[in-house]
Amino acid sequence: MTTSRHIRIFDTTLRDGEQSPGASMNIAEKMEVAQALVDLGVDIIEAGFPIASPGDFEAVRGIADNITGAVICGLARTNDDDIDRAWEALRGAPQARIHVFLATSAIHREFKLKMDKEEIIRRAVAGVRRARGYCEDIEFSPEDASRTELDFLCRVVEAAIDAGATTVNIPDTVGYGTPAHVGGVIRALGDRVPNIDRAVISTHCHDDLGLAVANSLAAVENGAGQIECTINGIGERAGNCSLEEVVMALRTRQDHYHATTKIVTQRLVPTSRLVSNITGIQVQRNKAIVGRNAFAHEAGIHQDGMLKERTTYEIMRPEDVGFAKTDLVLGKHSGRAALGDRAKALGYHLTHEQLQTVFDQFKVLADKKKEVYDADIAALIEQEIRDVPETWTIAGYRLVAESGQVPTVALTVKRGDEVLTEEVTAGDGPFDALFRAIERITGVEVVCKDFNVHSVTIGKDAQAEVTVEVEHAGAVFRGRGVSTDSVEASAQAFLNAVNRVVAQAERGAAAEAKVGGNV
Ligand code: KIV
Ligand code: ZN
Repeated sequence: MTTSRHIRIFDTTLRDGEQSPGASMNIAEKMEVAQALVDLGVDIIEAGFPIASPGDFEAVRGIADNITGAVICGLARTNDDDIDRAWEALRGAPQARIHVFLATSAIHREFKLKMDKEEIIRRAVAGVRRARGYCEDIEFSPEDASRTELDFLCRVVEAAIDAGATTVNIPDTVGYGTPAHVGGVIRALGDRVPNIDRAVISTHCHDDLGLAVANSLAAVENGAGQIECTINGIGERAGNCSLEEVVMALRTRQDHYHATTKIVTQRLVPTSRLVSNITGIQVQRNKAIVGRNAFAHEAGIHQDGMLKERTTYEIMRPEDVGFAKTDLVLGKHSGRAALGDRAKALGYHLTHEQLQTVFDQFKVLADKKKEVYDADIAALIEQEIRDVPETWTIAGYRLVAESGQVPTVALTVKRGDEVLTEEVTAGDGPFDALFRAIERITGVEVVCKDFNVHSVTIGKDAQAEVTVEVEHAGAVFRGRGVSTDSVEASAQAFLNAVNRVVAQAERGAAAEAKVGGNV
């Protein structure tokens, strides 16, 4: 009988994932994701790149000081300042890892670093040694490894292990690898690097060709013991290997991979929703494992087969990845305890006060809508827990719009006891008029970069969830609104983004502004 190997799951949602355009998170949001990752059962959380910005540093430190149950990792280049800063952020963690990286491919050596091979080895060794002076758990990544000459890659990896690296991560930085290629590189390292038994081989694949999951699985087949991945596959450009896909592939095809992870798979959907709500990056409907349609059977033949025997058309059970057996959960007679249970199952840790507020809103919603689904509840909770000081709130609106005519909006908002109304007859459609009214009242001008409306659930009485992304003074802010009235949801979302601009201005722009976290 073949025994199973344990594969470590290294989650980099908070570092590489945050490098997705528009995905930046504030410190409170990062802490919430980190806790969710612990609940999910990941082995290592890459919490950020401490030298990249004061905000990144504080987030890594906050997670290191407060989150237990996983190794907390921080990224650093090989120079002393990066490594010292990473350790300063990580030192409070009961289990800390410093992740040191340096590019090794000919293209990067010649054009980016202007260093020869010997210099690369010297710097890699110096960086790993310095990091090892701080802690025992050191990861080294030869960036762009998949495009590095194999002989040289073997030399760098051997030198890094000799210098004290305990994990050697092999990034396919630009998503150029194919399964055969990535698998071959991992196998060659296992066969040719004499001290490889002193380190865990890791894989870190980007999805430029849509191969990140396949490449990571090929790495496992050829000896990798750690997979670097992100929730929903978010990350630089086309993203990283998707955690939920790679984990479910290992689990569903254990007969082939003979490998297990510690992931509590029932937490995959709640964690996916959380990250999607926080980052504003929606999960495509047909996304494997966590997409809304991942377990929807449309064809009559399939439905018939399912009714006769589920396994005719299903290789996984929806409840095993965290979809509720029945999505219809509560109605207007449900109590606060039932709502609290549901919130917990969805992955939220609510305080007593938050639960009470959400319960009050739930009662209002249940009056408007006969059936309240998980997604409705998640939307209400998200509205409550995102800690943006609501400087301005919507009090009401009147909208006159007719095709071919300039719309008129009279919008009333509140700030404390102050009530302000603005009437605007302008704009390229009613939403534009609405947003102009908000800008005039608040005095905050923004450029709207993205505006999305989608229904939280099915049915005519479904709630509309609106997300907007706006730019102000070079920084991007997201806003979100939920209501059964889509115009009101749009006004809430836009105002929510404006409130974030105001909050940031009050905190002092410098502390929060992210200064180039890209690597
Ligand atoms: O893609 C990459 O090469 C990286 C490294 C920093 C590991 O993200
Ligand atoms: Zn990467």
